[in-house]
Amino acid sequence: MEIVTSPVECRKKILSLTVEGKNIGFVPTMGALHQGHLELVRQAKLSCDFVVVSIFVNRTQFNSKEDFEKYPKTFDGDAAKLSQSGCDIVFAPSDSDMYPSTPEVKITFPQLQKSMEGYFRPGHFEGVALVVSKLLHAVPAQKAFFGRKDWQQVLIIKQLVKDLHFGTEIISVPTVREPDGLAMSSRNQRLSEKERSLAVIFSKSLFTARKKLLAGDSVVETVASVRQAFDRLPEVRLEYFEIADRETLEPVLSVESNTRVSLFIAGYVGGVRLIDNIFLQEETE
Ligand code: PAJ
Repeated sequence: MEIVTSPVECRKKILSLTVEGKNIGFVPTMGALHQGHLELVRQAKLSCDFVVVSIFVNRTQFNSKEDFEKYPKTFDGDAAKLSQSGCDIVFAPSDSDMYPSTPEVKITFPQLQKSMEGYFRPGHFEGVALVVSKLLHAVPAQKAFFGRKDWQQVLIIKQLVKDLHFGTEIISVPTVREPDGLAMSSRNQRLSEKERSLAVIFSKSLFTARKKLLAGDSVVETVASVRQAFDRLPEVRLEYFEIADRETLEPVLSVESNTRVSLFIAGYVGGVRLIDNIFLQEETE
């Protein structure tokens, strides 16, 4: 496994591999790798000849300085995990490699970013779109793999790649969960033991709400029951719970006859912000 830091060198390598006929799979990450990330690597390995994983904690997508500073940085451990997972190249640029000057360009998604993560984290998706554009220039892959845990991000990247003709196919991979249902996340490392046990309320709320909706409960009743569950626990704070069309992200008022519905949740356990989502129709996930 090779480690490359220069975006220009990385692009040269990938283009020469492509000329040799290699099919390149790309997994962008911010490091602090867990089984969720490694599942993306596994999927990439299954369908591509050569797998590139990037590790870059992108400051422009953090809307809180504290969240950026506290983001776990575990490069040596990450590299060890990747070398055992079939990764061929780790692309690990420095901040100045990726941002040699303050960017002027801004990429916005007026429809897709108006709710949920886009609403509660102003500027977040602009930072994601900017860095993913830079990453796709450094790693012009045939396929790039993203997790459904960040479903709104998946939709935004698909739109970015379509609108700007990147020519990379975006593959979304189902969320990997802990045995109790909590979605794996690099931020879970920051939870105390007590907070970790409380954090299960996010996935539990989604699964319970899905059951209720499928049993015929209304959207209004379902939203109210999730809010009540959070109200009972002072240590956790619900930021949003949304039932929305999973392609347009427009809220739905009724799930009847709508097969494209997803449930989305975000909030805090102590100082740690967690998000999760599930499709209403299990079989499509
Ligand atoms: P990061 O949070 O490191 O996540 C990297 C990729 O792993 C994303 O596509 C994310 O959706 C996926 N992922 C995280 N947890 C997962 C889980 N439990 N199951 C499956 N996939 C999971 O997302 C980012 O980094 C950044 O925004 C990035 C795209 C790298 C741009 O900076």
